[in-house]
Amino acid sequence: MSDTTPQPYLLVGANGMLARAWKERLEADGLGWTGLDRPEIDITSEQSLAQAIPQGTRYVVNCAAFTDVDGCEEHEDAALAVNGFGVGKLAERCKAVGAMLIHYSTDYVFSGEANAPYPVDADKGPQSAYGRTKLVGEELLAKSGCDYRLIRTSWLYAPWANNFVRTMVRLTGKLDELKVVDDQRGRPTSAEHLAACSLRIAQDGETGAYHVTDGGECTWHGFAVEIARIAGNTCDIAPCTTDEFPRPAKRPTYSVLGLEKTESLAGPMPDWKDNLADVMARLEEDS
Ligand SMILES: NC(=O)c1ccc[n+]([C@@H]2O[C@H](COP(=O)([O-])OP(=O)(O)OC[C@H]3O[C@@H](n4cnc5c(N)ncnc54)[C@H](OP(=O)(O)O)[C@@H]3O)[C@@H](O)[C@H]2O)c1
Repeated sequence: MSDTTPQPYLLVGANGMLARAWKERLEADGLGWTGLDRPEIDITSEQSLAQAIPQGTRYVVNCAAFTDVDGCEEHEDAALAVNGFGVGKLAERCKAVGAMLIHYSTDYVFSGEANAPYPVDADKGPQSAYGRTKLVGEELLAKSGCDYRLIRTSWLYAPWANNFVRTMVRLTGKLDELKVVDDQRGRPTSAEHLAACSLRIAQDGETGAYHVTDGGECTWHGFAVEIARIAGNTCDIAPCTTDEFPRPAKRPTYSVLGLEKTESLAGPMPDWKDNLADVMARLEEDS
């Protein structure tokens, strides 16, 4: 292999929460990777993509996104440039160099009004700017003609970065009482489990859409109670309604992603309580 041959895996948005899980997975499996984030790569710029993604790249893992869900309401055009048109540009570049694009989307592309898990091909109906912009990205990816794996996920957590688990450990450790919403139902997802399962889908799956989350389901309140229990925190966590905590972006009431397609390829998804216990045994201190 010459010095100019690119590493097989290129991680885009490499400073984010999920990208770190990918790095650790690839390292553990002895697979070569390069990681780029802004300013080395900007997925809204075709010129930047042409410079940063060389011929010979085999897999591009897109962890880059405008992920501030409430911020998207106020800055929908900026979010659309990244989550929508940026994904389209990235897909075009991947097609041009013959790379597979592994891309992430969200439960927010669905309406959240169902009462059974959403299959991968369920009708879309985003209720927020974040969901709308991510759906544009999905549509441009599918139209691009590149070899892709579109992976929807939800409620991500990891031992690092800003996420619900680390926030709840901190809050339930210092407060006597806390209210957490109990009328939104979904599936938590360990970023490490997501990276490992994504790698399997990249290697053994076919082009198309997949859902990857932990197994089981819960409300944010149930999630918080289990986090506090594992942490040994005695805070009284009371259930409340979404209406008690108005936010700029509407949250889905029911956003359980159906796992049948993924489980038929990769086997059963581990239960969220097992993944949570594993992650909480390795929680990092705030930096
Ligand atoms: N977190 C969740 O609960 C969740 C749930 C469902 C789906 N997802 C999806 O999962 C994926 C990974 O999420 P995450 O939580 O790991 O994200 P994250 O931690 O917010 O990381 C996103 C990264 O993308 C970078 N980025 C933003 N705009 C960019 C651009 N134009 N070009 C290149 N890089 C750019 C960000 O850099 P800056 O810091 O400079 O902005 C950041 O390093 C995303 O597609 C997200 O939509 C996440």
